[in-house]
Amino acid sequence: MTGSNSLPHPSDDHRFLAPARVNLLGEHTDYTGGFVLPMAIPFYNRATVTPAESGYSFSSALFETTRAITAEDRSPRARNWTDYPVGVLRQLQQRGIEPPPFHLHLSGNVPFGAGVSSSASVEIVTAYALLAFTGTRLKLEEIAVLCRAAENEYVGSPCGIMDQFSIAAAKAGHALLLNTRTLHYEHLPMNQGALAATQIVVCNSMVKHSIASGEYGIRHKQVMDGQAAMQRKFAGLADLGDATLQQLEQARGEMSHESYLRCRHIVSDNARVMLAKDAMFAGDPVSLGRLMLEGHASERDDFACSCDEVDFLVDTAASLPGCFGARLTGGGFGGCTVNLVDRNQSEAFSAALRKAYQEKYDIAADVFVCDAVDGAEIRNSTEQV
Ligand code: GLA
Repeated sequence: MTGSNSLPHPSDDHRFLAPARVNLLGEHTDYTGGFVLPMAIPFYNRATVTPAESGYSFSSALFETTRAITAEDRSPRARNWTDYPVGVLRQLQQRGIEPPPFHLHLSGNVPFGAGVSSSASVEIVTAYALLAFTGTRLKLEEIAVLCRAAENEYVGSPCGIMDQFSIAAAKAGHALLLNTRTLHYEHLPMNQGALAATQIVVCNSMVKHSIASGEYGIRHKQVMDGQAAMQRKFAGLADLGDATLQQLEQARGEMSHESYLRCRHIVSDNARVMLAKDAMFAGDPVSLGRLMLEGHASERDDFACSCDEVDFLVDTAASLPGCFGARLTGGGFGGCTVNLVDRNQSEAFSAALRKAYQEKYDIAADVFVCDAVDGAEIRNSTEQV
C-alpha cells in the first residue's frame, strides 16, 4: 500500500514509514509562496504505536530520552527530539482528534541534521501512525499542513511546507513540483529521454546544521522584510511566488541590501524551477544540471547559506565525468549536496567525490546513489523495507 489521499483503518498489523527527501531545485522558496522540486529518497523513519493504560509516551531507538505526558499536558517544548512527535499530537488535538492512550516508538536510518528532513519525516510518520491508531482519515494536504504547523508553532522553527508535503506526497521515479501557495502539485517523471540514464547522488558533507538555530531564522526574516517592501510597492502582489526580477529591481531601494539579495535568490530560483520542469519533460539532463549549478551559485552568493565544504563538493562534482549538475540541498549551512549523474558513472563519481573531500578536509563524506521513492506509507508489518 502506498501513500494515498486517505489512510486505511488502523490495525495492529500495520507499521508506518516516512522517507527522507532531497530537493532538486527551489530552495527557501517555500515560505513565500514559491515553487519547489523535491523527491523522496530511501531513508526511512518507522513508527509503531501500541495501546497504553493511560497518557501518551514516546521513545526512539536513536535517542535515550523518553517522554511521557497526559492527554491534558500543555507544557512547552522539551528542546529534544520528542518535540516533533509531541508537536504533531498537539496539532491533532487542536483539530479535535484525541488519540486513545498510546506508546509511540520511532526507529530508522534518516541522517540527522544533514538537510534531508529528518524532522519532517518524524512528523509525518507520527501523524500517519496516530491518525490510523485513532481511526481518523485526513487528506495528505491536511497532514502536511498540520505537520508544518507542529514545527512552526511547537518546535519553533519558521520552516516552509516543502519537507512535510513532499514526504507525504512523493511518488517513486518522480520529482514533485509543488506550488507552495496553492499546494497544487504535479509528479514529474525522472525517466524521460536521456534523464532515464541518470541517477541522483546525495553527498553528506557531515557539516551539521539545525534549522531551528539562528541562521535559518535570520534568512527568513530578511526574506519577509523584502517581500513586505515589494507588497507595499506593488499592490496586489500576493507573495514572492508572483514577483519578477524586474519588480525586485524597482523595489530595491526600499529594502536592505541583504533582503534584496535574499529575494533575488528566491525570485530567480522560482524561475529556475519552472525551467527545470521543461527540462524534465524534454528529458534533458544537461539543462537540468545547468539549472542546478546556477541554483547553487545563487544560494552561495545571494542567499549566503552555503559553506566552504559544500562549495568544494559542488565544484568538485561539476568537474567529474558523468556529472550534469550539483547543488546544496535543504536549509543549508552544511548538510547534503544533490548531484545529477550518469547512471553508468554514478559509482565511480561517488568514489572520486568521497576521495577528493577526504583529501581536502579529512572528512569521510557519506555518499548515496538513489532513485526517487514513494512518500509516506503504511505497510503490513510482515513486509520488509
Ligand atoms: C528546510 C525547511 C524547508 C525549506 C528548506 C529550504 O528544509 O524545513 O521548509 O525552507 O529548508 O528550501
